Amino acid sequence: MSDPKAKEAAAVERGNWGSRLGFVMAAAGSAVGLGNVWKFPYITGENGGGLFVIIYLCCIALVGIPIMAAEIMIGRAAKKQPVAAFATLSGRKTGWTAVGWMGVLAGFVILSFYMVVAGWAMDYTLKSIVNFSEPIHDAAEKKATVYRATTPVAAMRARLAKRRAAHRSRALVDDIKREAPRSVWRGYARYRAAVGVAGGAGRAALLGEKKLAAQVVRAEALQKRVDAAREAAAVEAVTYYRKRSDDQVRAEAETVERRRIIAKKIGGAFGKLVTDGWTVTFWSALFMLLTILVVAGGISSGIERTCRFLMPTLIALMGFMVVYGAFQSGFGEALTFVFKPDPHRLKASGVLEALGHAFFTLSLGMGAMITYGSYQEGKDNIIKQSLWIAGVDTVVALLACLMIFPIIFSYGQEPGAGPGLVFKSMPLAFAEIGSGGMLLAILFFGLLLVAALTSAISMLEVVASYFIDVRGWSRPRAAWILGIVIFAFGLPSVFAFDPDFVLKSWEPTYGKSFFDTMDYLASNWMLPLGGLFVSIYAGWVLPKKIRDAELEGVAPITVRGWLLLVRWVAPILVIAVLLQKVGVLDIDEILYALFN
Ligand code: PHE
Repeated sequence: MSDPKAKEAAAVERGNWGSRLGFVMAAAGSAVGLGNVWKFPYITGENGGGLFVIIYLCCIALVGIPIMAAEIMIGRAAKKQPVAAFATLSGRKTGWTAVGWMGVLAGFVILSFYMVVAGWAMDYTLKSIVNFSEPIHDAAEKKATVYRATTPVAAMRARLAKRRAAHRSRALVDDIKREAPRSVWRGYARYRAAVGVAGGAGRAALLGEKKLAAQVVRAEALQKRVDAAREAAAVEAVTYYRKRSDDQVRAEAETVERRRIIAKKIGGAFGKLVTDGWTVTFWSALFMLLTILVVAGGISSGIERTCRFLMPTLIALMGFMVVYGAFQSGFGEALTFVFKPDPHRLKASGVLEALGHAFFTLSLGMGAMITYGSYQEGKDNIIKQSLWIAGVDTVVALLACLMIFPIIFSYGQEPGAGPGLVFKSMPLAFAEIGSGGMLLAILFFGLLLVAALTSAISMLEVVASYFIDVRGWSRPRAAWILGIVIFAFGLPSVFAFDPDFVLKSWEPTYGKSFFDTMDYLASNWMLPLGGLFVSIYAGWVLPKKIRDAELEGVAPITVRGWLLLVRWVAPILVIAVLLQKVGVLDIDEILYALFN
C-alpha cells in the first residue's frame, strides 16, 4: 500500500486516534479510573499505608512502565487487537494467541464488577444532586448542639480521653505486635484457644510442643508490653484533657459528636445502596449503556473527546480537595500514613496486592494497551508515552489518597474500611462544607463516573475489537451484543451484597463475595499472568527488526534499560509473586527476616 490515499482510507476504515496527543489521552483515560480513586486508597488503607505505597510505586516503575511500553509496541506494530496481534507479528498462528484470549476474558471479568462500582458512583452523583448529605448534616448539628448543652463537662472529658487513648494505643500496640512474625501470634492464638477449651490440661499438652512453647513465651513477653502501652496511653490522654479548658473540651466534644453522627448516617446510606440489588442493577445497566454507546460510536470521536476535556477537570477538582484536606486536623496523620514507610506496618499480602494493582491501574495484562496502541499512527517515542500515561495515573492515585485520608483521620474513621472507603469518606467532607459542598459532590462523583467510563470503554473495546477485527462484525453490533452479555455476566456481582442474593452460599464457600472473587481472579491472576507473557514476548520473542522499528529515535541507553526490565526484572518479579501465591514462598517470613 504505497499509495498514501489508499493507506489513509484503510486507516479511516479501522479507526485511528485523531491527533498525536489523542493516543496518550485515551490511554491515560483508560488507566485513570476507579482503580485510582476507589481501589487504590482502600487497599492502601487495608495494607497499612506507607510501605505499601512505596512497593506499589516500585511495581509501577519496574514492572508497569516496561510492560506498558511492550503492550503499546505489540499493538502498534501489529495494528491488530490482542488475539490477532500475536499471530500477525509471528507471521503464523502460535500459542501466544492464547494470551490474547486470556485478555479478552479478563476484560469480560473486570468489566462485570467494574460496572457495579461505577453504578454506585452514578447513584452518588444523583444523591449529590438532591443534596442527600444536607439533612444528615443539619440533624447531626442539632443533636450535637443539644449534646453540648446537656452533657456534663466531666463526661465529655472522659469520652475524649478514651477516644484519644484508643487512637494512640492502637498505633503503639501495632508496632509492638509487629516485632514478632505472624507465626508467633498464630501460635499464641492457638495456644490461648486450647487453654480456653481444655484449661490447664490443654496448656500442659500444648506447651509440650517445643516450637509452640517458645512462641508462647515470646508472645507473652510482648503482650505485657502491649498492656503497658495501653495503660500509658490512657494516662497520657487523661492528663492531656485535664489541661484543656472547659470551653475547649466542649467545642471539641461537640465536633466529635457531630462528626460521629454524620459518619454513621453516611456509612448507613452506603450500606443501604449496596444491599439494594435492584437499584444497583438499574445504575449498572445505565452505565453499561453509556459504555456501549461510546464504543459503538467509534474510536476517535467518542473516546478521545471525552478524555481530553474531562480528565484535567478531575485532576483539578482532586487537587482542590487535597488543599481542603490540608486544613483539616487529620492532614498530618494522613501524610504520615500515606508516605512514611514503616516495615512493621505492611501486611505481607500487601506485596502481592501492590503488584496486582499496578497492572490493574495501568490497564495492563489484558491487552487494553495493545488495542489502543493498534489505533496509533506514526512512530512517537513509546517509552515517553508510557512514562506520561503512568505518570498521570500515579499522580491521580496519590491525589486520591491525599484527598481521602485527611477526612478519614479527621473524622476518626478507619482507613481499612474496605471497598466503601471513598463513598463513606468524601460525603463527610462535602456535608461539612455546606452549600458549596453540594456542588463539589456533584462534580466529584460525576467526574469519577467519567473516569470510570473512559476505563470501561477500553475494556469493552478489547472484547469487541476481536469480533470486529477477526470476525468482521460491525462496530455497533459488536458493542451492543458484547455489552449486553457482559452485563448479564455481571448480575451476580450486582447482587453480591444483597441479602436476597441467589448465590447466597458463594461467600461462605469461597471466603469472598462473588464481586470480590471476580476482582481477585482478574487482578491477582489474569492480569499478572497476561503481563508476564507480554513481557516475555516483547523481550524474547518479538523479532528484533520489528522491535527496532518501533523504538526508532529512542536513545540506545533507554532501549537497553527497557530491555533489561522487560526481559529480566519484570518477569522475575511477577513469577516470584505468583510463586508466593501458590504457597511455594512464604512472604510473611521472608519480609520479617529481611527487616529484622
Ligand atoms: N485502569 C483502570 C482503572 O484504574 C481499570 C482497567 C483495568 C481498565 C484493565 C482497562 C483494563 O480503573
